[in-house]
Amino acid sequence: MRVLLIAGGWSDEREVSLSGAKGIHSALLELGHEVDMLDPAQDFGNLMSRASQADFAFINLHGSPGEDGLIQAILNRTSCPYQGSGPESSFLSLNKAATKTIFDHNSILTPKWELICSIDGCKGIQNLKPPVFIKPNSGGSSLGMTFAKTEQEMQYGIEKVFSMGDSALVEEYTRGIEVTCGILGDEPLPLILITPPEKAQFFDYNSKYAIDGAEEICPAPIEEKLTKQIQEITLKAHKLLGLSGYSRADFIISETVPYILEVNTLPGMTPTSLVPRAAKTAGYSFNMLIEKLIELGKN
Ligand code: DAL
Ligand code: MG
Repeated sequence: MRVLLIAGGWSDEREVSLSGAKGIHSALLELGHEVDMLDPAQDFGNLMSRASQADFAFINLHGSPGEDGLIQAILNRTSCPYQGSGPESSFLSLNKAATKTIFDHNSILTPKWELICSIDGCKGIQNLKPPVFIKPNSGGSSLGMTFAKTEQEMQYGIEKVFSMGDSALVEEYTRGIEVTCGILGDEPLPLILITPPEKAQFFDYNSKYAIDGAEEICPAPIEEKLTKQIQEITLKAHKLLGLSGYSRADFIISETVPYILEVNTLPGMTPTSLVPRAAKTAGYSFNMLIEKLIELGKN
């Protein structure tokens, strides 16, 4: 099969995308496919013609223009199948405030939050008090994220997000442990327990991608009932958001209560990324995971 591998792009997660694409490229070749690589940052204008010559597109973009559904909309126009979710659900899921609104309305617990617009700045925060997390509303990989313990740090965090041109999501700090749950097809994957290094205040960019970044245990050593509950919530969120193929939801467990943080429609595929790790525990080698995603995308 001729596969168009789309990676790079213009978001802050470009390097994460390119790193994941290396492994996907090798896997596609090992699986016997022909691979054509396209970086939208350099070759966006040729996307439609390159896609129309391909049998399948494998999208490994984070942020715009893949995780926001733009590429998927173009691929739909060319009738080129691809893995993962379609344009509307991708666009919706990249917006953390929109997904948290859906969670709030569907009895899925998520930490309390407020969305701040740049005109109001810090004054826009109505109810939350430090400690809080401040994040770009449509960002990924913890880029631009601040753990603010004081009003001054909140001010700094909000300014940082606005300098990146996004709206700022302020989220109540929830003390607990972090776990993540992938979905593959209609099946939840084993949970991963994530323990960032002591020097990191949270699971930040470096903890995510440095080889010795964070300790990750899969399957997460938590009780079966709680594991099942988190897997059910992940599947419910996946379905509510209209997602296809795969996704990954991140959680904080406080005492024994799971709070969903967000859902990722194009989860990272780097050597330290979480979905490949969970898939391996479930019996899928990296190559098998790529083949399964293609199979799901073609149907
Ligand atoms: N945004 C990164 C790539 C992830 O969700 O894994
Ligand atoms: Mg994310």
